[in-house]
Amino acid sequence: MNGDTVVQDLIDSGLRGRGGAAFPAGIKWKTVRAALADQKYIVCNADEGDSGTFSDRLVMESDPYMLIEGMIIAGVTVGATLGYIYVRSAYPHAIATLNRAIDKARDAGWLGASVLGSSHAFELYVAKGAGAYVCGEETALLESLEGKRGIVRAKPPVPALVGLYGKPTVINNVITLATVPIIFAKGAAFYRDFGMGRSRGTLPFQIAGNVKQGGLVELAFGVTLRELIYEYGGGTASGRPARAVQVGDPLGTYLPESQWDIPLDYEEYAKVGAVVGHGGLVIHDDTSNLAELAQYAMHFCALESCGKCTPCRIGSTRGEEVIAKIRDGDTSVKQITLLRELCDTMVSGSLCAMGGMTPFPVMSALDHFPEDFGLPRTPAKKAA
Ligand SMILES: Cc1cc2nc3c(=O)[nH]c(=O)nc-3n(C[C@H](O)[C@H](O)[C@H](O)COP(=O)(O)O)c2cc1C
Ligand code: SF4
Repeated sequence: MNGDTVVQDLIDSGLRGRGGAAFPAGIKWKTVRAALADQKYIVCNADEGDSGTFSDRLVMESDPYMLIEGMIIAGVTVGATLGYIYVRSAYPHAIATLNRAIDKARDAGWLGASVLGSSHAFELYVAKGAGAYVCGEETALLESLEGKRGIVRAKPPVPALVGLYGKPTVINNVITLATVPIIFAKGAAFYRDFGMGRSRGTLPFQIAGNVKQGGLVELAFGVTLRELIYEYGGGTASGRPARAVQVGDPLGTYLPESQWDIPLDYEEYAKVGAVVGHGGLVIHDDTSNLAELAQYAMHFCALESCGKCTPCRIGSTRGEEVIAKIRDGDTSVKQITLLRELCDTMVSGSLCAMGGMTPFPVMSALDHFPEDFGLPRTPAKKAA
């Protein structure tokens, strides 16, 4: 196939990045293909630092050729001859399996100076990350891959134009790249047929936390949280009523039961300030304390912040302190307003989604579970 046709088919399939931001994969590839450079790269983001997520790991451990093939197709399409899979060191089995699979693919002629006897060269290597959460952010990942400390780069320029070693780079999540071979085996229309709205295809939902049957289930977009919790997850492991579900990883919102019938779709979730993210669900029962979880969100951000920008670096520590004061009994208007204003500043002033989204779990906890903060069970803003 001609590269332009490949890109158009990928756009037509509706595939959006599965790492969290849901950017159309075909548009990213088109940008890199059109860029003029002596070297281009394909980078696979296999950092998978999100709590409760493991779909990338399962693909790499159980069917690494899906990913390898997707990366080769990406390389041939955009004119990149080198690829890297950036895997966190906490995934030793995935790293070993990938290395063996890459060797076999090379022996079989899929990798090397001439991919399957064609004029296209493509080489692939595994790079081990040390496990900093922020190194999953694409620009911090590129810094880390270059051997530097994982600090977020300001955008623009986007990595598609100035990426690894300053060269045009496709950086995609494992699931995004591993989906590509299926799209080309069965056709863009086949893939597009699954899903709803602008969320086409399937997502491997990962069910974790307090759940009877934790695990992964690949389903078309449009399924509801209630179906995932009860039909696939079998309810809570504790047998107590489920109370809150964090969707979209540690930076995702806590959804109360009143929101469990919203179809899992990027746009439908965005309407209520929630995110689908990498498809991770962490279920909590009625013994959970959402104020404690909100405080932990700020604590996590303080631990994992790369430190480049003030709202995230300082705001996360101040946020943890303010929530601690509220939990200690100071539920005054002043404290609640301070927390809301701090969250507003982090959302609008942070350089990347680490600081920009940490307020999501915090504010959803405050809005939907005010009683855990010692506030009356009315909308928190009015209570304040
Ligand atoms: C703090 C932070 C952590 C992230 N961690 C990951 C990760 O572990 N894996 C991933 O694929 N994307 C992660 N992302 C999203 C990436 O920045 C980027 O959007 C993604 O690699 C693009 O690939 P995609 O378009 O295929 O999703 C993270 C973003 C942020 C802000
Ligand atoms: S938001 Fe946090 S992680 Fe992102 S650039 Fe700023 S300090 Fe770094």
